[in-house]
Amino acid sequence: MAPIIVSRTPALLLLAVLAGPSTLTSAHLRAPRNSKLPVEAWLSTPELIEHWGYPAETHTVQTDDGFLIDVHRIPGPKLGDKPGVGSRRTPVLIAHGYSASSECMVLRPHDNLAFMLADAGFDVWLGNTRGNFYGKRHLTLSPQDKEFWDFGWHENGLLDMSATIDLILRETGEPSVVFVGHSMGCSSLFALLSDRPEYNAKVRAGFLLAPAVYFTNLQGVFLQIRRTPLLRVVHRSWLRLNMENPITRAPYPRLCLPPNSLVMNPSCMKLFTEAQGPFYNMANNTYMPILMRHWPAGSSVGQTTHFLQLIIQGDGFRKYDYGPEMNSVRYGSNRPPEYNLTNVNSPMFLFYSATDYQANGKDVKRLASDIPGTAGLIKTPTKIFNHLDIMYEEAAAKLIYKRLIKQMTKYRSIY
Ligand SMILES: *[C@@H]1O[C@H](CO)[C@@H](O)[C@H](O)[C@H]1NC(C)=O
Ligand SMILES: *[C@@H]1O[C@H](CO)[C@@H](O)[C@H](O)[C@H]1NC(C)=O
Repeated sequence: MAPIIVSRTPALLLLAVLAGPSTLTSAHLRAPRNSKLPVEAWLSTPELIEHWGYPAETHTVQTDDGFLIDVHRIPGPKLGDKPGVGSRRTPVLIAHGYSASSECMVLRPHDNLAFMLADAGFDVWLGNTRGNFYGKRHLTLSPQDKEFWDFGWHENGLLDMSATIDLILRETGEPSVVFVGHSMGCSSLFALLSDRPEYNAKVRAGFLLAPAVYFTNLQGVFLQIRRTPLLRVVHRSWLRLNMENPITRAPYPRLCLPPNSLVMNPSCMKLFTEAQGPFYNMANNTYMPILMRHWPAGSSVGQTTHFLQLIIQGDGFRKYDYGPEMNSVRYGSNRPPEYNLTNVNSPMFLFYSATDYQANGKDVKRLASDIPGTAGLIKTPTKIFNHLDIMYEEAAAKLIYKRLIKQMTKYRSIY
C-alpha cells in the first residue's frame, strides 16, 4: 500500500517521519475509552488468548546480538476441554509475515490456525520479530537509536528465529519444532536454513503459507513498483536507512481506518486488493478492520528494502544488496550471492493460492523444485484466495488448515 499513501498524502507522511521517536504501540495501549469496536480489536496477545478461553504464557528470548523479544505460547487446548492424548505436546512455531505480530494470529477463536493446532494437541508458540510491538527491547540499545533498526528479515531469521527455536527446545526438551510461516516468516526461515544448515535438524517439518521467496511473476501494484523508474534509481543508490519503516507508522491507521470505525476506507481496501490480490470474503466482513487495528505492528526499512531489491531484480533469492563496494567486503563479490537453498532439507509443505499477487503459483512451484526437502505442494482449491486470505480468511480452515493439520499430525512426537 506504500506507494499510494505516499502519493496521496506526502505531507502527512513527511510529518510522521519528522515526528521523531514515537514508535507504534500495541493495540491494547491505544484503546480509546468507550470504543464501539469488539474488545478483540484492542487486546494484547496473551489477553486475546485468554479472552478466547485458552491458556497463555509469555516467554522472553534474548538474541545473540542483545534483542529481547516476547514469544507467546498456547500450551494446551481450550480450558475445560480434556487434554489430548498424552501430556506431552509437539511444539509448533508460527512465524508471522511482514510488519505483523503474534496478535494477528489469535484474533478469532474459531477457524483460526493457532487455536485449531492447540485443539489438535500441539503446543503452539507464536513468534515475534525485533522491531514489532513485542520486540522493542534491547540490552543496550533503544528504538530511538539508529543501530536498533539495522536489520532486515535476514536477521529476523538468523538471529530472532534461531533464538526462538532454541528457546522452545530448551523449554520443552524436544529435539525439534514443527514450523508454520506466513510470507516473510518463510523468507526468514529459508535465510536461516540456507546459512545455518544445522537448524534443519531442529525443524522437523515446515508448513509454508504463501512463501515470499521468488518474485518473478508478481502482479498488481508490485509489478508497477518493478517498472517504476524512480524506484529503480532509489534501489540502485543502495540506501540502507536504519530506522523504523515510516510507511507502517503513524499515518497508515488514521488514513485507512479512522478511530472507532468498523469500516475500512474504500480506497485503502482497493489498495490492499492491488497489493494482495482479490479477497475471498474478508473485504466484506468486520474481520479486516479488526486485523487492521493490530497491523502494522512495526518493521524496519531494511526488511522493506530487501524485498524491494528482490522484486526489482526478479531473478533469485539473493542476500541484501549493500552496493558493489560493501558487497565485496561482506560477500567477496560485487553482487550479493543467492541463498543456498540446496541446504534446505527438512520436509517442507508449500501452500499457495490462485489470486495471490505476491507469492505467485509459478514462483512457489519453482521454490518447490529448488529445495531438496519439498514434501508437498498444495494449491488452495478455490479460484479466489489472496496473500492475506491464506493466513487470515475464515474459510482457510476448511480449504487448507484441515489438510495441513492432517499432514502435520504425521510429524507428532511418539512417546
Ligand atoms: C463482497 O463485496 C463485493 C464488493 O465489495 C461484492 O462484489 C461481493 O459480491 C461481496 N461478496 C459477498 C460474499 O457478499
Ligand atoms: C550449496 O549447498 C550444497 C549442499 O550443502 C553444497 O554442496 C554446495 O556446494 C553449496 N553451493 C554453494 C554455491 O555454496
